[in-house]
Amino acid sequence: MTDVQRVALVTGGCGGIGSAICKRLTKDGFRVATNYRSEEKAAKWREMMSEQGVDTALYKADVTDYEQCKKMIEDIEEDLGRIDVIVNNAGITRDTTMRKMEPSQWHDVIGTNLNSVYNIVRPALNGMLERGYGRIINIASINGQKGQIGQANYSAAKAGMHGFTKALAQEVARKGITVNTVSPGYIATEMVMAVPEDIREKIIAQIPVGRLGQPDEIAAAVAYLVSDDAAFITGSDLSINGGQHMH
Ligand code: CAA
Repeated sequence: MTDVQRVALVTGGCGGIGSAICKRLTKDGFRVATNYRSEEKAAKWREMMSEQGVDTALYKADVTDYEQCKKMIEDIEEDLGRIDVIVNNAGITRDTTMRKMEPSQWHDVIGTNLNSVYNIVRPALNGMLERGYGRIINIASINGQKGQIGQANYSAAKAGMHGFTKALAQEVARKGITVNTVSPGYIATEMVMAVPEDIREKIIAQIPVGRLGQPDEIAAAVAYLVSDDAAFITGSDLSINGGQHMH
């Protein structure tokens, strides 16, 4: 770490994996910022986090909207001085088989899970280039690697995130910026608990480790990838899935 406190923007910080990442990076000495859409949800989340001694800077911005993201990045740079780390974590599911998928279910998932990555990284990248330092982590999914029935939208977006990782990693490798993907398997969050129980039980039976992952197990990997120790890791995709998909 430098003498200056590093600043991390974690999108979708109020969700299951996002909360764990915000907590872990705060504990590791980062000043953490996140975005939100619902005032009500954000207020409850802020209270829950402050009870645990975690203070996160909150900004209202919809990650599907470029202008809102650009404004948020400018506000964070002004308020907190810089952005050194981006964790593109915001994500949604709209699971349904292709024969039933409505255009909105396709566009909502591509907008939130993939277009968001452009919307956040583009306005923040020049600051990182000027400072000669950056860590960008894209939270993808096992289902972007192997595909999943009912998730053509989600699998496409998550696979797209890793394509983005590989291209950008090459562009900025000589500028002190690393870009990596983390691909969680099935983690015990509301998103996974929304899968019908009978289907979820069948999925858990396919995980060699024999259980769902924990959000903290994803946060620990993010903490490593954003550390100075990980300076030689770029363009990689770290699978954290209990052995469910090996490739
Ligand atoms: N294997 C084989 N066939 C399957 C199947 C499977 N796992 N699942 C569904 N099908 C087949 C059915 O047999 C049926 O075929 P027939 O028409 O020939 O009988 C057909 O698909 C059912 O199609 P429907 O369009 O009627 O599907 P449905 O309404 O029953 O629901 C679904 C399908 C929404 C995809 C449901 O199966 C589901 O929720 N699956 C879980 C999807 C999932 O894993 N989501 C992950 C969410 S968590 C997350 O995304 C986080 C992360 O990164 C891991």
